[in-house]
Amino acid sequence: MTRHLITSALPYINGVKHLGNLVGSMLPSDLYARYLRARGQEVLFICATDEHGTPAELAAREAGVDVAEFCAEAHELQKGLGAAFSLSFDHFGRSSSPQNHELTQHFGNKLFENGFIEERVTKQVFSVDDDRFLPDRYVEGTCPHCGYEKARGDQCESCTRLLDPTDLLEPRSAVSGSSNLEVRESKHLFLLQSKLSDEIREWVNKHQDWPVLVSSIALKWLDEGLHDRGITRDLKWGVPVGREGMEDKVYYVWFDAPIEYIAATKEWADEDPENRDWKSWWYEAEDVHYTEFMAKDNIPFHTVTFPGTQLGSREPWKMVDYIKGFNWLNYYGGKFSTSQKRGIFMSDAIEMLPADYWRYYLLANAPESSDSSFTWDGFSGTVNKDLADTLGNFVNRTLKFCSSKFGNALPEGGVYGERETQLAKDLTARVLAYNGFMEELQIRKAMQELRAIWVMGNEYLTETAPWTAFKTDPEAAAASLRAAINLIRVFAVLSAPVIPTASKTLSDALGLDLNETTWLGEDMVAELDALKAGHEFEVPGVLFTKISDEQVAEWEEKFGGKE
Ligand code: 2FM
Ligand code: ZN
Repeated sequence: MTRHLITSALPYINGVKHLGNLVGSMLPSDLYARYLRARGQEVLFICATDEHGTPAELAAREAGVDVAEFCAEAHELQKGLGAAFSLSFDHFGRSSSPQNHELTQHFGNKLFENGFIEERVTKQVFSVDDDRFLPDRYVEGTCPHCGYEKARGDQCESCTRLLDPTDLLEPRSAVSGSSNLEVRESKHLFLLQSKLSDEIREWVNKHQDWPVLVSSIALKWLDEGLHDRGITRDLKWGVPVGREGMEDKVYYVWFDAPIEYIAATKEWADEDPENRDWKSWWYEAEDVHYTEFMAKDNIPFHTVTFPGTQLGSREPWKMVDYIKGFNWLNYYGGKFSTSQKRGIFMSDAIEMLPADYWRYYLLANAPESSDSSFTWDGFSGTVNKDLADTLGNFVNRTLKFCSSKFGNALPEGGVYGERETQLAKDLTARVLAYNGFMEELQIRKAMQELRAIWVMGNEYLTETAPWTAFKTDPEAAAASLRAAINLIRVFAVLSAPVIPTASKTLSDALGLDLNETTWLGEDMVAELDALKAGHEFEVPGVLFTKISDEQVAEWEEKFGGKE
């Protein structure tokens, strides 16, 4: 049987992640992991904090603590927030782990042995006022191609062209703003990507099933030509290169970060070596299907750079099978931004409302085919309509009414008729579609299907109107309440990958033991008859509280949500 390896792009360590980061990789990968586990598949779901590089050093400096200490704390913070959002990682690792040091050096050495890395003396920007070499991205200036004034020395955010810091017009230090820059010599390792270009292209071309967003970015990079890239930096914090004459150098963060997918798996296995085998997931792992999740800016590194590292090692490492890439979630027309503290951050969000509210909204509005926008009106509208009115209200009125007329158990009497046959038929079609979209990772469509399934509950209840039937034909009312309560069970199972906490509330209310590997059978007639007359339940509290206009106004004010 296939085993499923799933990784989410590694959140950078420099601060709490915003909802754009969440929906761009961690949340959809969690949805997929949960769905596959529920379908009885063996899943290993890996994430970690990406801890090296200058932004980490700068964030630590700003916080006034040592970078190792800063990362340790920030890792715990992100780990806690992940748990608060019900992200079900099998392991949430750290790219600064000894395992990653070892594996990164291993890849570096293999690439060197195989002639894909060489030493070169480079001229590099040194900031006299900052007394340090500046990494490419910490040189800012005007893009020579498009004129964007805040282009970074590695890439222009505006036209996406790759740059060298010396390409920039009017360069200045992003650390201090100083333009007192000099070019000095330094010895570095270069990855000769151009030598691997044909192999990478051949590998990309094998994956005709990738989303257009992903393959087009990969091919664009390959078509523009792969340049040999410096993969070491003059920093103290990072994976030491470990070569003579390069004692003060570490590998570039983008070299070691994807290797952490493997290293995090090793971290996971090292916690329980008798029962876990990291290598079987990554090395000669023909039975593994590997899916990666990431936002679009990460795609080049996962379709070109990291595969190049793997191929160039000349070792049989597991390479990605499917990449789910995302566009941006915008905040009132602009980007969410960590550095500008713009938008909503995971820590704010979880203080305001439980995770399920955010999970459902974000997945239903995932920026799949294009960028999408977060607005407070959109958010409250979705929560109120779909979660509170459609799902929550159905559950509540069904169980409350049953409880008040028949007591806290599924009522006896009556039989299912044509309406229930139709319900089972409609459900069969919708569940098939839902499963299909989940498997294809068409997330918005899957959420639309789930919503349509919830709607079926209300339609059924409105049509069979047990509160009216109760007066004239209590047996019919009893039968339709049984069907409706069985629907609640069906909803609990189908909704679990999306809103796991609410799903657990439903499972508890129905006295069930639905767990992460529970799914429905194929026969919906049987599913609508799973809970029999006499099965006891409790009426849960309000499942989803509506968001008021006052709250929307308050949050718009607080988070600056006006155009
Ligand atoms: O874009 C980012 O936030 C990176 N930290 C993603 C790294 S993904 C992987 F390669 F590690
Ligand atoms: Zn540009």
